[in-house]
Amino acid sequence: MRVLVLGASGLVGAAVATAARDRGHTVSAWGGATPDALPPGCDRAVDLGSGEGLEALVAGEAPDALVNAAAVSHPAGVEADPEGSWRLNVDLPGQLADGARRWGIPLVQFSSDMVFPGGGQDFSPSDPPAPLHPYGEQKRAAEQRVAELHPGGSLVLRITLVNGNSPRGRRSVHEKLLAAIAAGERPRLFRDEIRQPCAAGRVGEVVARLLETGAASGIYHWGGAETISRYELGRRILARFGLSLDRVEPAELPPGRPGRLVLGDGGLGLRLGLGASTVEEQLAVLRQPPRLWEGGEAR
Ligand SMILES: NC(=O)c1ccc[n+]([C@@H]2O[C@H](COP(=O)([O-])OP(=O)(O)OC[C@H]3O[C@@H](n4cnc5c(N)ncnc54)[C@H](OP(=O)(O)O)[C@@H]3O)[C@@H](O)[C@H]2O)c1
Repeated sequence: MRVLVLGASGLVGAAVATAARDRGHTVSAWGGATPDALPPGCDRAVDLGSGEGLEALVAGEAPDALVNAAAVSHPAGVEADPEGSWRLNVDLPGQLADGARRWGIPLVQFSSDMVFPGGGQDFSPSDPPAPLHPYGEQKRAAEQRVAELHPGGSLVLRITLVNGNSPRGRRSVHEKLLAAIAAGERPRLFRDEIRQPCAAGRVGEVVARLLETGAASGIYHWGGAETISRYELGRRILARFGLSLDRVEPAELPPGRPGRLVLGDGGLGLRLGLGASTVEEQLAVLRQPPRLWEGGEAR
């Protein structure tokens, strides 16, 4: 299968490109057009900030499947630039879904557990979204957009907090945490923010297998095997890298952010023959981001 991955310079897109290549697919991997050098594994840099020329570029690759991992992927980025992030997080998925429908190929669009408000229950793919935050609002809007524009071939994969090594070493949980500490900060991490971290590599495998099995249009969930607070996860990361556990400060969530956020996978792991990974397994493969302790701030 020829798979075109957008956002392949990011944490999740890179993992999808790697998994698809490892499983024998031909991958075109597009990174963002930031001034930094394109990381290994990416074929070209494409600015997706405007939709201009995009369809011709995609059609030129003649893919059998599209995977969109390009996004403004953090809530603070959405708050800082609501319009620019709407283009990336909502308009772009819509444009891709419209094209994919006309080309007769599937689109995998990433979404987030943040479409839910959190609470005592585990959320299933059929539960109605009710985001608390503008980032979650954009992810919900994208879900609706791709379902409307490509009802026969849009696969929305909602994922939870992702652990892994990003191509530039500054996007994942541990990379951001270590960068903040290297810059002299003592990050505040919430004890009541309960998450279900998953492994970037496993997310990549899920996507590859969804495409290989010709999975039906719809919403899918993937998370990790365990729940853990952000604070405890931070301390586990510190321990993993041999740092003192008091480098992070415990804090309580401010209003307006989901507390416990856990996804049920609706049997997806069983259907794909994949198990969710534990926090221990996720931490074992983390690498120290390059250049961190020499230059202060991570690049
Ligand atoms: N990471 C998580 O914990 C998590 C959890 C739930 C859901 N998700 C979802 O998973 C998806 C991927 O997230 P991620 O963590 O991999 O994000 P990420 O590491 O921040 O990567 C985002 C990707 O989008 C690209 N991009 C951003 N603006 C662009 C632009 N104007 N033109 C072209 N490319 C642009 C980035 O390129 P550059 O490298 O050039 O910036 C990068 O390749 C997103 O939809 C996110 O909402 C992630």
